Amino acid sequence: MAVACGRSIHSAFVNLPRSFCLITNLSPFVMKASSLAAHGSVLFLVSMAWVASPTIAQQIDHVMVSSPDEEVVVVFLVSGGRAFYNVVFGDEEVIEPSRLGVRLQGPRGFEDGLEIRDVGRRTVDETWRQPWGEVRDIRNHFNELAVDLVTAAEPFLTMRIVFRVYDDGVGFRYEWPEQDGLGDFVIMDELTEFALDADHDAWWIPAYRVHRYEYLYRRSPISDVGSVHTPVTIEADDDLYVSIHEAALTDYASMTLQSTGPGKLEADLVPWSDGTKVKATAPFVSPWRTIQLATSPGGLVTSYLILNLNEPSRILDTSWIRPGKYVGIWWGMHLDNWTWESGPRHGATTENTKRYIDFASKHGFDGVLVEGWNIGWDGDWTRNGEEFSFTRPYPDFDLEGLAEYAARRNVAIIGHHETAFGIDNYERQLEDAFELYSRLGVKAVKTGYVDNNVHRHELHHGQYMVRHFRRVVESAARHRIMVNVHEPIKDTGIRRTWPNMMTREGARGMEYNAWATEGGNPPEHETILPFTRGLSGPFDFTPGVFDLTLESSTRDPLVSRVNTTLAKALANYVVIYSPLHMAADLVENYEGHPAFKFIVDVPTDWEETVVLNGKIGDYVTVARKDRGSGDWYVGSVTDEFARQFDVPLSFLEEGVAYVAEIYADAFSADWDTRPLEITITERPVTRDTVLEVRLVPGGGQAIRIRPNGSVN
Ligand code: NOJ
Repeated sequence: MAVACGRSIHSAFVNLPRSFCLITNLSPFVMKASSLAAHGSVLFLVSMAWVASPTIAQQIDHVMVSSPDEEVVVVFLVSGGRAFYNVVFGDEEVIEPSRLGVRLQGPRGFEDGLEIRDVGRRTVDETWRQPWGEVRDIRNHFNELAVDLVTAAEPFLTMRIVFRVYDDGVGFRYEWPEQDGLGDFVIMDELTEFALDADHDAWWIPAYRVHRYEYLYRRSPISDVGSVHTPVTIEADDDLYVSIHEAALTDYASMTLQSTGPGKLEADLVPWSDGTKVKATAPFVSPWRTIQLATSPGGLVTSYLILNLNEPSRILDTSWIRPGKYVGIWWGMHLDNWTWESGPRHGATTENTKRYIDFASKHGFDGVLVEGWNIGWDGDWTRNGEEFSFTRPYPDFDLEGLAEYAARRNVAIIGHHETAFGIDNYERQLEDAFELYSRLGVKAVKTGYVDNNVHRHELHHGQYMVRHFRRVVESAARHRIMVNVHEPIKDTGIRRTWPNMMTREGARGMEYNAWATEGGNPPEHETILPFTRGLSGPFDFTPGVFDLTLESSTRDPLVSRVNTTLAKALANYVVIYSPLHMAADLVENYEGHPAFKFIVDVPTDWEETVVLNGKIGDYVTVARKDRGSGDWYVGSVTDEFARQFDVPLSFLEEGVAYVAEIYADAFSADWDTRPLEITITERPVTRDTVLEVRLVPGGGQAIRIRPNGSVN
């Protein structure tokens, strides 16, 4: 059976949902789907059945659906005309009865007076391949429950709530089929709640703040979180971790969460400037609200539920979409050595760019990012959104000549569109800008939405901007251009549908280490990111600064630095996932440095990802297998405390001998006083080896493990 009929559910809900068992037993379609699914076949399998006739439906007030392994159970209930759900994981009711529904503008709405009219079910079990990613193949295996609700009073509108229940969590969304009496409608509020079973600790960043998602993560009981962005990561227990987020945010307001009491979170949609939340026309669907469940923090990292809930790729030929590494005319501006604007310290000059192209070519990098190349940066560019040209370069930047110079050296220029939130200005030029880049062989564009004029327009995360981001990705796809967004809307897995949506910022990245007045990201930062921001998708963290104390900056006085050791700077390439990773430092800081070999070697496209250990805010160790070879890479990072782990290499292939190239903190190193001390050694290993990984305070370790023949 697709459901745990008769299973004992400890819930504050109604008695056991026996009426549900009755209905499924009546349905040959459901029986067929679930028994086939029980074979665990990776073949595509769908069976759909509307199981309740109107007469039967009148008797139903609750229905239940479980995950394929029956460990996750969702009960849906209508009580007093209001809709609720709860979620059980193993023996624990993780989400207690929580409200569902939406409030519309005007007299219509889906808050009260609801009745279940129909119930549909299906099971899907398919495996799909990512054109690039942190893992190659992803199994999409869920049981679905679709409940049609009707409003009891005229005009008897229909809203469907669809649950997809996976072994690693739950997604649900609202759907409004085409129907008389709905047409255009406006959502004023979403009533979705997430009532955790206790006031657990959550890791969060605040919402509605001027620096968007760029805040340090904090940990506190749910009742203290206030208004926060998703994903929110909840440490319920030593063996229960929960992430609440959303998937497939493509034409809706971003969902933030508001704490409303101990353990209680409520959806709060980012409004339009007129106070409404979502402007819709039926047929219409909301994004999926997601609840990922795992027994370890690493289990959240290797859950691909968010991607599974997105639509398959709309780009049929993805051969032009390629992960890679880049350097750029970028860190020099953040160090205050160069400027984006024109003048004597202009960074984006022809000469400087040639130097970066030569370096990229010599070391096998794919791209060179050039910021400040185009007219519009002069004056206070953070307020000049209407001034930017996305086609006219500054006179000291020979765009056409440099594109050609790069191509001859097998490198591509990475374009840059800083909008400073001048959305109309950008949209007016979008087609021309992408047309120009595509003609010049530019394969990727970094966009930016720095905004110091927040009261002038729509909010950063509302439906207006969600639509804008999608428009940019679609337009870029038409021109075969990959996108890397800074100051983005958060990632909700849309890279599955538009695989040219490569990576994005959306958290405090490396740049904060150049100028943040409180001294840069603290050593614990990278031990939190994989379990919070990283759960939403790839992060353009821009790692790899070697000059950790910023000796090469002309800023006086220095206010910040990189608060890691050098070995940890390398480990971040593995720990933080991004298909486009930067070697962020000034290129002269890499020349002749033995540790640079790791950055040259490390790939950005993976066959497999394994989280070997992790405690949020303390440490994490990740192993990833290269897609293009038999190599494995391991990254391990710690906070301000030293750690020592035994790391079994049991993920390696049986019968293969390997060499481990180990970039470790020197015994004498620490992030604060001796960050640069590193030891680089080699040793033979096999899958039976247990490596002793030693990390100094604020340190890390990066390991390349390459095959070296077979075991005798
Ligand atoms: C902020 C981005 O995060 C950064 O990478 C970029 O250099 C500046 N905006 C200028 O566009």
